[in-house]
Amino acid sequence: MDKIVIEGGRRLEGEIRIAGAKNAALPALAATLLCPGKFVFSNVPDLKDIETMCKLLAEMGAVVKKESSGILTVDTERLEHCEASYDLVRTMRASCLVLGPLLARLGKSRISLPGGCAIGERPINLHLKGFQNLGAHIALEEGYVNASAPDGLAGQKVYFDLVTVTGTENLMMAAVGAKGTTILENAAREPEVTFLADMLNKMGADIQGAGTDRVVINGGRTLKAVEIAVIPDRVETGTFMAAAAITGGHLKLTGCTPLHLEAVTLKLIEMGCTINEGNDWLEVSGPKRPHPVDIETDPYPSFPTDMQAQAMAVLTVADGTSVITESVFENRYMHVAELRRMGANILHKGKNAFVGGVEKLSGAQVMATDLRASASLIVAGLAAKGKTHVRRVYHLDRGYEKIEEKLKKVGASIARRADRGGE
Ligand code: UD1
Repeated sequence: MDKIVIEGGRRLEGEIRIAGAKNAALPALAATLLCPGKFVFSNVPDLKDIETMCKLLAEMGAVVKKESSGILTVDTERLEHCEASYDLVRTMRASCLVLGPLLARLGKSRISLPGGCAIGERPINLHLKGFQNLGAHIALEEGYVNASAPDGLAGQKVYFDLVTVTGTENLMMAAVGAKGTTILENAAREPEVTFLADMLNKMGADIQGAGTDRVVINGGRTLKAVEIAVIPDRVETGTFMAAAAITGGHLKLTGCTPLHLEAVTLKLIEMGCTINEGNDWLEVSGPKRPHPVDIETDPYPSFPTDMQAQAMAVLTVADGTSVITESVFENRYMHVAELRRMGANILHKGKNAFVGGVEKLSGAQVMATDLRASASLIVAGLAAKGKTHVRRVYHLDRGYEKIEEKLKKVGASIARRADRGGE
């Protein structure tokens, strides 16, 4: 197991190229199951979660090849299996994204039911209810969801009780293969949903309204394999923005989409950052010391829950008290106890965290508990006095491509080491 060791207190300065979005690449890879053919993806991030999805596709009979850096081909001419095992779903919940496309193409699928995870219970009941609306039969046996639609799926109105990102994506993919029109109400509006709709339309589907809360899918069209470039990762972008903010640094981020980060940008400006942006780049200059701000997470276009932990790290050194409200997941404050070990003054009560800014954090041994919590500990470590050891970095490797190399290039003192405990 590896750990990341940071000697904090260096001001970051330079340019970082943003990778493709994990949360866009995962549903896009699952969408290859919808029809036979050879898909070509570019700007695919080199991440553990992508590896897991490729493994899953390969187990089903797809031929997946990494051609060169960022380029991946997936040939789904022959599909032999339609099952996602416990071992794969356990390591990556997004494995459930294969349900929709498999139901659409083969009329059946079997996946292990995801359990709870570090940030909450996270059921997939709304995905399953949606498939049932489209006529699928769903049975739960021995921890597995058996979904079948022997006579095919039929278009219907689906209302999501809660806004769900992968739920919207899963239903959109199923509906593409259903006969007739499906209307998704209270759909997620995340850029990754719009990206998937664009890819499906390029494949020959007829989807309208993606990016709004009402998506209309006219199903049953003939689909073909396509070439597609994955959109930039808005959470990676936001994480580096937080790194510039907490170190009083200046970073230029290229190959990103600032339009997808408006809520984050506005909060960082409130904290005292100066931000300049173009279509596919942005520059952030951090303040001497951040100002406190109140943040509430909500579905897009509100402040993303995936940026809550990193924003909190910045606010631990603000010149006042901030209130953070986590409204998407019920238990996404695992980083609080670890940030406290670094000297942060945070009171967590229910959905809220009260962050009283301290002048300086101090380096400590901390443990990553989930993907974005790990990123927040890295951000905190960059500004802390002394050495921070972030353990269990396998969480980080699920979603950040070479984060230590990227940060090193812009002046951070950061290294990956084998974790032998102790130290
Ligand atoms: C996706 C993102 C994740 C992000 C999250 C919220 C991917 C691969 N992951 O996760 O990074 O943090 O959106 O922006 O894109 N819920 C139910 N029943 C369901 C589905 C969801 O109760 O069937 C609840 C969840 O427990 C949560 C809320 O709805 O409280 C939103 O979750 P959802 O949008 O589904 O998150 P994911 O799609 O799993």
